[in-house]
Amino acid sequence: MPKLYLLGTGIRGLLQITQETQQALSISDKIYVLHSDLGVIRNLEETFDAEVVDLEYIYRGVKTRNDAYKQIAQLIVGATSEATTVSFVVHGHPLFLVSASEYIYGLAERKSITVHALPSVTSLDTIMCDLQLDLGYALQIYDTTTLLRRNHQLDNRAEALFFQLTSTLNPNVIDQLGSDDTLAEFREYLLRFYPHDHPVKVVYSAATAFSGSIVQELELSKLSAQSLNLVERPTLYVPAIE
Ligand SMILES: C[S@@+](CC[C@H](N)C(=O)[O-])C[C@H]1O[C@@H](n2cnc3c(N)ncnc32)[C@H](O)[C@@H]1O
Repeated sequence: MPKLYLLGTGIRGLLQITQETQQALSISDKIYVLHSDLGVIRNLEETFDAEVVDLEYIYRGVKTRNDAYKQIAQLIVGATSEATTVSFVVHGHPLFLVSASEYIYGLAERKSITVHALPSVTSLDTIMCDLQLDLGYALQIYDTTTLLRRNHQLDNRAEALFFQLTSTLNPNVIDQLGSDDTLAEFREYLLRFYPHDHPVKVVYSAATAFSGSIVQELELSKLSAQSLNLVERPTLYVPAIE
């Protein structure tokens, strides 16, 4: 029976990869990688016997990110029908904001391929450490675009994290950032629930062994695409109102 693994490297290069994930990689025939750090891909090539395929090229042939994720899912499920064991490796956790993993589940079910997702360190884990906070008691988590499109009502008495600021309301493949304030609509939406001077934090968790985490503090009304380093794909923390 062919086997398909959904795996994650963790957030900081390969420092957080689990033993369980390494075991799955060591028995894989083919490893498909979606990761912006070329060093991570080279390391996987050097460490494991499998053929390692960098999926970055798929973004170049499509307009929207969703088209890329659908193609990735088709490629991987197709390859699994022929090979014995195939792994799909992403940054962070394979089931935290990874549309390609969702598409893989759908396609694999139709071909009776069993999918094994293994847990790994997600940016939610690193963000709690960087903020020095236990967010387990009352936490709202939103993808910014989903929040705006579905008009979710926020509870300002509970802590909140907002993911995917960089791609807010933009379905296209993003290779460079323009000069527009792409966060304007998101900021105005939050200001319906929080005061202008509400103190928020933008978290950039360390993504390599050689870099440290950065936590940027600002007032909510000052949040804009220009005030953040969106290339680094940060996450926004909005504390509860006491
Ligand atoms: C496409 S999602 C992938 C998330 C990833 N699978 C995970 O487990 O964290 C990318 C989003 O995760 C968050 N993220 C990823 N890396 C991060 C980092 N180093 N620091 C803060 N947030 C990060 C950001 O909100 C970013 O826009």
